[in-house]
Amino acid sequence: MAAQRCAPSGLSLAALLLLLLASGSAGTAGAQWSGPGTTPQLQRIFLGYCAEYLELLNPQLRDKNCTAIWEAFQTVLDKDPCSVLPSDYDLYINLSRHSIPRNKSLFWENNQYLVISYAENGLRLMPLHDVLYGRMGALLSWCRQQNGSGLDYQSCPTSKDCEDNAVDSFWKRVSVQYSVDSSGVIYIMLNGSEPSGTYFKKGFLADYEIPYLQKDKITRIEIWVMHEIGGPNLESCGEGSVKILEERLQELGFQYSCINDYLPVKLLKCVDHSTHPDCALKSQGHIYIFKCMRLCLTSGMLRRAESLNQRF
Ligand SMILES: *[C@@H]1O[C@H](CO)[C@@H](O)[C@H](O)[C@H]1NC(C)=O
Ligand SMILES: *[C@@H]1O[C@H](CO)[C@@H](O)[C@H](O)[C@H]1NC(C)=O
Ligand SMILES: *[C@@H]1O[C@H](CO)[C@@H](O)[C@H](O)[C@H]1NC(C)=O
Ligand SMILES: *[C@@H]1O[C@H](CO)[C@@H](O)[C@H](O)[C@H]1NC(C)=O
Ligand SMILES: *[C@@H]1O[C@H](CO)[C@@H](O)[C@H](O)[C@H]1NC(C)=O
Repeated sequence: MAAQRCAPSGLSLAALLLLLLASGSAGTAGAQWSGPGTTPQLQRIFLGYCAEYLELLNPQLRDKNCTAIWEAFQTVLDKDPCSVLPSDYDLYINLSRHSIPRNKSLFWENNQYLVISYAENGLRLMPLHDVLYGRMGALLSWCRQQNGSGLDYQSCPTSKDCEDNAVDSFWKRVSVQYSVDSSGVIYIMLNGSEPSGTYFKKGFLADYEIPYLQKDKITRIEIWVMHEIGGPNLESCGEGSVKILEERLQELGFQYSCINDYLPVKLLKCVDHSTHPDCALKSQGHIYIFKCMRLCLTSGMLRRAESLNQRF
C-alpha cells in the first residue's frame, strides 16, 4: 500500500520539477518579487514625460527643472527595494508640485483607461496622472536590486512582498499631496462592474486620499458609478461598498451626491459600443446621442488645439 502510493507520487514530483523548470525558462526565471521589474529606459521616459508636460501640456510651469526633479526621484534607486518610505519622495514633491485647478480633481478606482481618455490630458479634468508629479510615475515600475547597486529589471516588490516598496510608497506620497491640494467640486469615478468590489475599504482612495481631503476647501463631492456597457451592474449608488463610501463621506461632513453611469462618461464608453441598445437614449433616440458624441469629441479636439495654439 505504502509502496504503491510512493511510486506515483515520486513520478509526479519528477513531473512537477520538469514543469517548474519549463515555466522557469518561459520567463519567470530569477523573478524574486511579484511585480514587474524596472521599466527599461526609466530615466529617459521619466525625463520625456517631464519635458512633454512642461513644454506642451502646462507651459506655465516651464521654470521647473526636470533634471533636478529626476535627481530627487532617483535617490530611492539607491535604497533597499523594501525600505523606501513615502517621505523619501518629499524633495521630489517639493520640486514638482504645482496647484490643481479648482473643480478639476478626479479620483478613481478600477477605471484607469477610461479616466485617461475622459480627462483628456488634464484639459477636461485633472486626475493624479495629469498632475506633473503623478504623470512621471504613470505606467512605470522601478526598484534597486536587493543585494546589488544596479536596478532590478526582472521584478520589483509589490505590497504582497513588502509594505515599503518603491512604487507603492511613491503612489502613497503623490496621492496624499494630490488630495491635500484638491479643491472645489471633487469627482470620484468608480467601477460598478468590478467583481471584487466598487470601493475598497483598504486601498489608495480609502487610506491615502479621502483622509487627506481638506474640508474647508471642498464644496461637494460627486461620485460616478460607471458600469460596463451591457453590465454586469454589480453595485450602484446606495448599494454595497458604494454605500459604505457614501456613509464615510457623510460622517466626515462632506456634501456628496452619487450618479449612476454619469452620461458624459457613458457616452465616451459608447464610442466603442455604438450599436449596443444601452447606448441609445430612450427619451431622445439614437441620433441625438451620436450628434452629441461628435460634438463632444470635436469640442475636445478644438480645446486641445486652442491650448496648443496659445503657446505659439
Ligand atoms: C537644473 O538642475 C540641475 C541639477 O540640479 C542643475 O545642474 C542645473 O543647473 C539646473 N538648471 C537650471 C536651469 O537651473
Ligand atoms: C519647497 O521647500 C522650500 C523650502 O522648505 C519651501 O520654501 C517651498 O515652498 C517648497 N515648495 C513647494 C512647491 O512645496
Ligand atoms: C467650481 O464649481 C462651483 C460649483 O459648481 C462654481 O460655483 C465655481 O464657479 C466653479 N469654479 C471654477 C473655478 O470653475
Ligand atoms: C471595470 O471592471 C471590469 C471588471 O473587472 C473590467 O472588465 C472593466 O475593464 C473595468 N472598466 C474600466 C473602465 O476599467
Ligand atoms: C540577498 O542577500 C541575502 C543575505 O545574504 C540572501 O538571503 C538573499 O537570498 C539574497 N538575495 C538575492 C536575490 O541574491
